Amino acid sequence: MNNQKPFDISEFKNTIYSDPQRYDDEYWWKTDDMEFWKKILEMAPGKKVLELAAGTARLAIPLIREGAKYTGIEISPEFCKQAEKKLSHHKMDAMFIQGDIRELDLNETFDLIFIGFNSFLHLLKDDDAEACLKCVKKHMHKDTLFVIDIFVPNPLFLYRPETRFPVMEYIDSLTGELTKVEEISVYDSDSGINKITWFYNTPSQTDDKIYNFTMRMYFPDTMNRLLIDSGFTIQKMLGKHDFTDFQEDSELQIYICKK
Ligand SMILES: C[S@@+](CC[C@H](N)C(=O)[O-])C[C@H]1O[C@@H](n2cnc3c(N)ncnc32)[C@H](O)[C@@H]1O
Repeated sequence: MNNQKPFDISEFKNTIYSDPQRYDDEYWWKTDDMEFWKKILEMAPGKKVLELAAGTARLAIPLIREGAKYTGIEISPEFCKQAEKKLSHHKMDAMFIQGDIRELDLNETFDLIFIGFNSFLHLLKDDDAEACLKCVKKHMHKDTLFVIDIFVPNPLFLYRPETRFPVMEYIDSLTGELTKVEEISVYDSDSGINKITWFYNTPSQTDDKIYNFTMRMYFPDTMNRLLIDSGFTIQKMLGKHDFTDFQEDSELQIYICKK
């Protein structure tokens, strides 16, 4: 693990991003984007890859198997440790750097830079998004592909009553218990910020764990503005991981950009 200059991780303390075992357990089902990222790697002009907000190496492992020369940036020290453990278990050679994607300066360029699985939504203000996009540009050469994958905010979810809704179920790998996750979210349409609380319930304990996290809801018009103002050209805007073009009713907004 290579530490960049100091940065503030206080906003991620006591969130799911300090609990890598739980994160890996609860996202056991998240495999629907892997083929997409492998195809994106094939489209890139080379195999040198930088993943922003890289988590616990969920996408690193399949991409390295496809020949990626991989670097991941991740703010959570606990997630970095978990990622390194998984990579060494698979005997994979990759760089995992604890760092903030708003302050990145690696002094090198990559063939593919990407931020997957809604991680861009953790950039809560325009300033955060612009700082990140500026860093991305510094790490691009003229043919680099930059790809963002986020969901399209759905008003039916944003304006739900502030009561608990079921989100997912998983088996906790430490206890073997079936854990059911419920969610309450509170959306502020002025700031676009969605404050989300997840409640983890096991057969023996209601609210065994409670985590809060915050996401900004980015609508396509805001994404277009931020990308274009930051000097990117949007080569393609997709609405699904199967490369279908974006449409009014798409659930995802996926931007394939160059600078
Ligand atoms: C939804 S998870 C996705 C993780 C991984 N990309 C995946 O696909 O499984 C979001 C990740 O973004 C990281 N993150 C959020 N803000 C960050 C920042 N400013 N710099 C670096 N990582 C950040 C979190 O710690 C978390 O690991």
